[in-house]
Amino acid sequence: MLTIALPKGRIAQETLEIFSKIFDADFSFDSRKLILEAHGFRFLNVRNQDVPTYVAHGAADLGVVGLDVITEQELDVIDLLDLKLGKCKVSIGIKEDEILDWNKPDIKVATKMVNITKNYFAKKAVGVEVIKLYGSIELAPLVGLADAIVDIVETGATMRENGLKVAEDIMESSAHLIANTHSFYAKKGDILSLYDKIRLALAK
Ligand code: PRP
Repeated sequence: MLTIALPKGRIAQETLEIFSKIFDADFSFDSRKLILEAHGFRFLNVRNQDVPTYVAHGAADLGVVGLDVITEQELDVIDLLDLKLGKCKVSIGIKEDEILDWNKPDIKVATKMVNITKNYFAKKAVGVEVIKLYGSIELAPLVGLADAIVDIVETGATMRENGLKVAEDIMESSAHLIANTHSFYAKKGDILSLYDKIRLALAK
């Protein structure tokens, strides 16, 4: 049996729809249940940011999670397949009427994604002071907590409605299928058979 960690919400639903299509059966979580066992699979309903943890520790063989989260956490997992669900970008946002001044010493950036931010600024050899927040990132520049933010942009509506604009895109993201390194060898047959079925379903 394969255990698969899914990120609570829309991506979990869309992933289960792919399974429903492949196996011509119903895959859906009962309202508050965190485990779903169906047709030889066990699905775990976990927080988006926790998916790589379940997979890296082997509590799940596979997981579905955004490339942004995989990149941020730098955990030891195998990136198997881009599911092309939940497409978004990780971008730098600033106030609409400002420009990002790369010459300013230690630009203050508020973000949930500390590692992605540090690596991006390091690559440009620009000093950065990263301020870690857990949500409502768009507020930070409006009240002088930060000069800029690094955050997920999907439609752009959140930035726009808060008087911010994208100054630069850092990376594109979408949901990927990841595997635990040990499971990938121990359960290679099962994993590759599922991988092929998902790839076929996505190509249709
Ligand atoms: C993300 C992100 C932005 C918003 C962007 O938050 O932090 O606030 O979505 O989407 P938009 O460009 O379509 O407006 P999310 O809703 O995923 O919640 P989170 O802060 O809990 O991650």
